[in-house]
Order: sequence, then C-alpha cells, then structure tokens
Amino acid sequence: MRFCFIVEDEYRRQSMPMVIARHLAQSGHDVDLLEPTKTVTALWDLRRQLYDAYILKTVADGPGLCVLEAAEAAGIPTINNSRSIRLVRDKSLCTAYAYAHGLPVPHSYFVTDPHLLRKIPRERYPLVVKPTNGSSGRGIYLVNSPARSLRRPKYAERVSDFFLVQHYVKNPGYDIKLYVIGKDVFAVARESPLHPEVEVAHQLLPVKPAWLKLARRVGEVFGLVIYGLDVLETRHGPMVVDINDFPSFGKVPQAVSLISDYIVRFAKKARMKRGWLPFALRTLRSTSSRGQHVRSENGLAR
Ligand SMILES: Nc1ncnc2c1ncn2[C@@H]1O[C@H](COP(=O)(O)OP(=O)(O)O)[C@@H](O)[C@H]1O
Ligand SMILES: [Mg+2]
Repeated sequence: MRFCFIVEDEYRRQSMPMVIARHLAQSGHDVDLLEPTKTVTALWDLRRQLYDAYILKTVADGPGLCVLEAAEAAGIPTINNSRSIRLVRDKSLCTAYAYAHGLPVPHSYFVTDPHLLRKIPRERYPLVVKPTNGSSGRGIYLVNSPARSLRRPKYAERVSDFFLVQHYVKNPGYDIKLYVIGKDVFAVARESPLHPEVEVAHQLLPVKPAWLKLARRVGEVFGLVIYGLDVLETRHGPMVVDINDFPSFGKVPQAVSLISDYIVRFAKKARMKRGWLPFALRTLRSTSSRGQHVRSENGLAR
C-alpha cells in the first residue's frame, strides 16, 4: 500500500510518528514523508499520487492540518479525519462538544483574557486556566482565588490569545492517560503539572471497565481512531480534562506494530469502499514502476 506521512517540523527528530512510517516501510509498503514547511504541494495532483491514506500527528497551529484537509477534500482517506482533529485541537470547542454529547468534562468557560476571571463567582474557584490551543502542559495554571486572577501571567501571552477556564476537579494528583488504537485501550499513570509534589511511576495500569467505556465513547463522539485522553479519577467517576489526536503512546507496549497494523487495516477497508477503479489504476501504476519506488526523493528506504 502507499502512505503519505505529513511530518511537522517539531516531530522530524522525535520518535512519533517517524517510527510508524519506518515500520510500514520495512514491512514492504511505499511510504513518503511530506514536510509541509519544505514542500510545494501540487493540489491538482493529490488524487494521482494514489495514496491509500495520509497520516498526521498534529502540532498546535502547524501547517500539516491544511495539507491533510486538502487530501481529504480530494477524496483520500486520512488518519485522523480533519474534522475530528479540529474538534480536539481547540480546547474550547473540544469541551463544548464533549459536554453537548454527555461526556464527563468539568464545567468550563471561554475567555479572551484572564482578567475576566474576576467575573466568575468566588465559590467556583479554584479554576484551571489553559490556552485554547495549548498542549504538553504549556501555559496551564491554577488560580485559587479571584485575587490571584487579576494579573495576566506573562508566559500566557506567548502561548495563546484565548483561554479555557475550567473548574478545578479534585483528584489524587496524577493523571490516567488513556491511549487508544481503534478499539484497543491502554492506561498509563502520569504526573500532573498542577501537582509537581506528587511523584508517580509512569507505569501501565490495568484498564478499568469505566475507563474502557469512556475511552471508546470519546472515539465514537469525536470520530477519532488513534487518540488519547487525560482522565482524572474523582468521587463521581472518571472526568476527561483533555483529548489529543495521535499522542506519543509512551509506555504502551507494541504501540508501533499495533498502530501500523491499524493503519493498514483502515486503508484496506477504505480501498474496498472506493471500489475497483482506483484499485485498477494503482495496480497499473505499481506494475509499471516496480523497482523504482523503493526509495523516492522524500520517501523512506525499505
Ligand atoms: N479541570 C482540571 N482540574 C484538575 N486538574 C486539571 C484540570 N485540567 C487540567 N488539569 C491538569 O493539568 C494537566 C494539563 O492540562 P491539559 O488540559 O491536559 O493540557 P495540555 O493540553 O497542555 O496537556 C492535566 O493533565 C491535568 O493533570
Ligand atoms: Mg493533556
């Protein structure tokens, strides 16, 4: 099969998603890398490239999503699909959508500036302030009282123009990271940036039935297939505080082969749905160019 990995600059030297691209190439698939900041993408040519799927691990405000959307608009399957990615990349949108679909998320507000926090009643504190386009714990801060909310922290200005403000959820001081590949769910304990005093051994945990149900429900609601969610254990059950498309899957055993297998299954299913014509064209192309595609200019050596 033929895959195109859209690789954001930030991930060029990181393990994900490069390990997956390499694994697929070593398993005999044609894999090309498209680096959006270094590539001129011919939009009329997207269909003729005959990729079975485009794959993207997004980065905040990165250009990769535009290329993925273009590929999708040209009728090529993508992982994840662009609408699902858009729904989770903006934390306000993600929370409103999750809330509207009955998922357990903390009550949240959208504000353009943290000084507006003073309009939130005192009894709602403590509050957690997050940049709407944030990730990896950047720019997250806990505000314990209205008095503390008056000053806009300097670092917040650099991260985002807008903010999601959430009721703080009482929790044991660490996260349960749920990682999902199709229907497979894995749980890993991870420290919370809001509780640096709590030490946690990053370890794989047995997946509780409530976590499994919640993780799969998030996939159904958002239409994600490879994703992760940050969950906090509370008196009222697990609460979702964050959802990410294509996370890094640290500590998940066999993540590389599971994700690669999933991508191949996904692409095969999509091929069957598309019918015989693209398949015939692809066969024609691979017969005429056999031996020439082992390594392309921006492809991966097998
Ligand atoms: N509403 C909340 N109540 C308590 N802790 C929270 C809340 N929201 C986030 N946190 C903590 O802050 C961490 C970072 O927030 P998150 O929304 O996951 O942002 P990021 O996209 O930067 O990972 C979470 O993993 C969790 O430990
Ligand atoms: Mg998070």
